[in-house]
Amino acid sequence: MKTIRSVMAKPLKHKYLLLTLPLFIIPFILFFSFGYPHHQTNRNQPPSGDPDLRIRPVYPSYEAYIKQQLKKTLNPKLRQVWTTKDWDRKIQVFTAFFTDLKHKRLLSNSSKALCIGARVGQEVEALKRVGVTDSVGIDLVPYPPLVLQGDFHCQPFENNTFDFEFSNVFDHALYPNKFVDEIQRTLKPGGVCVLHVALYQRPDKYSANDLYSVGPLVTMFHGSELVYTRPVDGFGLDTELVFRKRENKVIRGP
Ligand SMILES: *[C@@H]1O[C@H](CO)[C@@H](O)[C@H](O)[C@H]1NC(C)=O
Ligand SMILES: *[C@@H]1O[C@H](CO)[C@@H](O)[C@H](O)[C@H]1NC(C)=O
Repeated sequence: MKTIRSVMAKPLKHKYLLLTLPLFIIPFILFFSFGYPHHQTNRNQPPSGDPDLRIRPVYPSYEAYIKQQLKKTLNPKLRQVWTTKDWDRKIQVFTAFFTDLKHKRLLSNSSKALCIGARVGQEVEALKRVGVTDSVGIDLVPYPPLVLQGDFHCQPFENNTFDFEFSNVFDHALYPNKFVDEIQRTLKPGGVCVLHVALYQRPDKYSANDLYSVGPLVTMFHGSELVYTRPVDGFGLDTELVFRKRENKVIRGP
């Protein structure tokens, strides 16, 4: 009797062992699928520590970053496409965006306007066509007369210069804080900044950061108020954010 029972029990024990195997394997799977990326992103968080804005760890230095950005901006094939096939199509889309902003009274013909990271300047051309004649762009590579040379981390303009600034290259900022501080510095009090950003889609390989909510921008635009956000379809960018720089604070008596 004794021997029969032990012979029967052996396969049973193996069966239980097999059933408990997943209990040991699942934690490993979970660790490698979730634990590892979290570990990586913690290293790439900006000084603000907001996990919804992550600096990509691909640039060892500012010089390496500029070199990579120039590679795209100076690519002769891309420049050819931007100034021919892309030209009218992009101007049409930008014209619709700026016309909408005029209807909302966030932009007018008399606005002094800047487009940040404008490349060959289709957005500048669109602004001029809707009547905003005092418009200019900046980029690392100039494209006269629409686009002047300038790094958005250090804008070549005096404080309180513009009524309106537009950009769809926030994802290219290696130092997002500087990008925002420069906008707030060069906007006049009451001036409007319109950003097109990607929250739900991942931008291209030239991007320097990834943004996952509007939170980090609201924090960085501390001298401005958020006017609204809305979904848009703008060349791979899905969200429009509008900020207005606060008027100089009037100190009131008690
Ligand atoms: C603004 O400029 C456009 C284009 O030149 C013109 O059609 C429009 O009437 C102007 N708007 C105002 C309010 O002057
Ligand atoms: C321009 O603005 C910056 C930041 O707001 C400030 O630190 C600086 O003193 C200002 N420069 C001038 C010339 O007012």
